[in-house]
Amino acid sequence: MANANSIKQITVVGSGAMGSQIAMVSALAGYQVYLQDISEESLKKAEDFLHMQLDKRVAKGKLTQEVVDSAFSRLQFVTSLQEAVESTDFVIEAIVEKLDAKREVFSQIDKLAPAHAIIATNSSTIVSSQIADATNRPSQVCNMHFFNPVLVMELVEVVKGPHTSEETAEIAVDLVKKINRVPILLKKEISGFVANRMLGKLTQEAIFLLENEIATVEEIDLACTKALNHPIGPFALMDLTGIDVSYYIGMQRYKESGDEKDKPAKVIEEKFLKGEYGRKTGKGFYTYS
Ligand SMILES: NC(=O)c1ccc[n+]([C@@H]2O[C@H](COP(=O)([O-])OP(=O)(O)OC[C@H]3O[C@@H](n4cnc5c(N)ncnc54)[C@H](O)[C@@H]3O)[C@@H](O)[C@H]2O)c1
Repeated sequence: MANANSIKQITVVGSGAMGSQIAMVSALAGYQVYLQDISEESLKKAEDFLHMQLDKRVAKGKLTQEVVDSAFSRLQFVTSLQEAVESTDFVIEAIVEKLDAKREVFSQIDKLAPAHAIIATNSSTIVSSQIADATNRPSQVCNMHFFNPVLVMELVEVVKGPHTSEETAEIAVDLVKKINRVPILLKKEISGFVANRMLGKLTQEAIFLLENEIATVEEIDLACTKALNHPIGPFALMDLTGIDVSYYIGMQRYKESGDEKDKPAKVIEEKFLKGEYGRKTGKGFYTYS
């Protein structure tokens, strides 16, 4: 494929929280889109969720009913991977975060999709060099990392692995612009990519300041919102994404590195053990009614 202008059809594999919204932003941008999942239930949930989200935008006057109807008319929900990829130009994989499952699905896509098609993974933690050799087209494989909720968040990190061709990286970057998102290109693979690495450091420092009794949760969050102009502080954000998620990420990092420093911080472990996961349990760093 010479450039992103030749992309007519996009396939998103995995219709969960991320895949459903990636498919919708692609359809809203005018592409023919296949959203594929092995679970009928997940596809149905994705369709209902997207209708609910877009209805809200129509009610608020952000989108017209015509634009939404036209996007849905370009979006097919299917369980057959063959149907989803046999005439595709670009595949974005957004299935469960398991290396074996991703390698298996990449290998199947490679067998079924046209030779020119690019295959990208939306993985948050797995760099595409761990998957590319499951295909016969490693130069056409890269990471394309969206942020949740995709309908709102603009940034997409495109990551060029050692196997990824310049052309593939360029096309992926162009495609991000065409679906009305803002790309950044990482020239080399690095775990966590850019945004989450920086967030990790900020969060680590916030916890250090709290555990050393320099300032309270509220005050540290205020420093971020009122001095750094962040829309939300790190503690409020952990409550939103789930303290259990922070705990599991830390444990996974520790398992991989064996470095005590990577273990979840004491305050995270305490909250995790008490079941205080944040908004979803009504209590985390803050209390929610
Ligand atoms: N949730 C986030 O905030 C976030 C942010 C950025 C990136 N990601 C990444 O996006 C990917 C998906 O995350 P999610 O939160 O949408 O997960 P999710 O659990 O909401 O959805 C995963 C979907 O994949 C489907 N699936 C599983 N195996 C499949 C297969 N072999 N073929 C087709 N479909 C299959 C499941 O049925 C499910 O519908 C992960 O790699 C994750 O790391 C997630």
